[in-house]
Amino acid sequence: MNNFEYIAEQLQKVEDAADVDDRIAVYRELRKLGINDFLGTLWRMPAMEYPRISGILPSMASIDVQSSWTGSSGPILMNQSVSFARAATFNYAEITGSSLKGKKILDFGCGYGRLLRAFAYFSDDVHGVDPWTESIRICHEAGLKDNVSISDYLPTSLPVPVNFDFVFAFSVFTHLSERATKQSLSTIRQHMRSGAVLCITVRPIEYWRAVYRDKTEAFFEAVEHAHRSVGFAFVPHHRDAIDGDITYGDTSMTIDYLLSIATDFKLASVDRSGDDEMQRYVYLKAI
Ligand SMILES: C[S@@+](CC[C@H](N)C(=O)[O-])C[C@H]1O[C@@H](n2cnc3c(N)ncnc32)[C@H](O)[C@@H]1O
Repeated sequence: MNNFEYIAEQLQKVEDAADVDDRIAVYRELRKLGINDFLGTLWRMPAMEYPRISGILPSMASIDVQSSWTGSSGPILMNQSVSFARAATFNYAEITGSSLKGKKILDFGCGYGRLLRAFAYFSDDVHGVDPWTESIRICHEAGLKDNVSISDYLPTSLPVPVNFDFVFAFSVFTHLSERATKQSLSTIRQHMRSGAVLCITVRPIEYWRAVYRDKTEAFFEAVEHAHRSVGFAFVPHHRDAIDGDITYGDTSMTIDYLLSIATDFKLASVDRSGDDEMQRYVYLKAI
């Protein structure tokens, strides 16, 4: 996916430029390739041909980690990641009239950091939080240390600044219990400036029959009834409860339900992934 001469030439130039000696400087040079090749370069780190920049850039997570956190891996996952980042920058510009470039960005539920890498294309001020110690351990081990911290499953505050311009949570609210959903939305809002944008992904009602294929008709009727009547359906995974609540499982929700609980936000736009079709993007503006 990266065997183009123009990419090799740019990478060799950066490899040989001894004064391009920290991550911010390397990112600045890699951005000249455009977002697809910027992320493609991060996806193949460390690369034997470029030992100097491999020591500066984060190493990509293993294929096993990619698959177990995000359900796909390699070039397919890279394209899905670029697709989300492009949709985010497009919608952010439509909503605010300005570019994501240089903005203060938070990845809520960052996992092993695939989207921390993608959004580094836009800004050097990208932060990540995740309550799972294993996510943070893998980020830190890969060299994603600065601005990547552990949060709580039911957060009342986050270990990050309070003035984010853009916060996103990809495939996170697709997993949270009702209590964790409400708590997370209200806490994220405390870390956003007024007028900032939050993008979360939610699952449509079709998710259940598409993915839970081995379930009975009674199961589907129950979750679809919850989705239609309450606007929210949740099936917990086998996990320990946090303060009496199993916070993680599978979730579908309507946008009306989301708006009814996201009281400090207004709906700004909606979108959907073309290559990860059960992920609806909902953009909310902080009021
Ligand atoms: C399917 S993974 C997605 C990871 C990442 N957003 C991505 O798209 O690559 C879900 C992530 O949500 C995190 N998570 C679980 N419970 C959470 C909570 N209560 N608040 C924030 N993140 C949570 C998990 O630890 C995991 O890293």
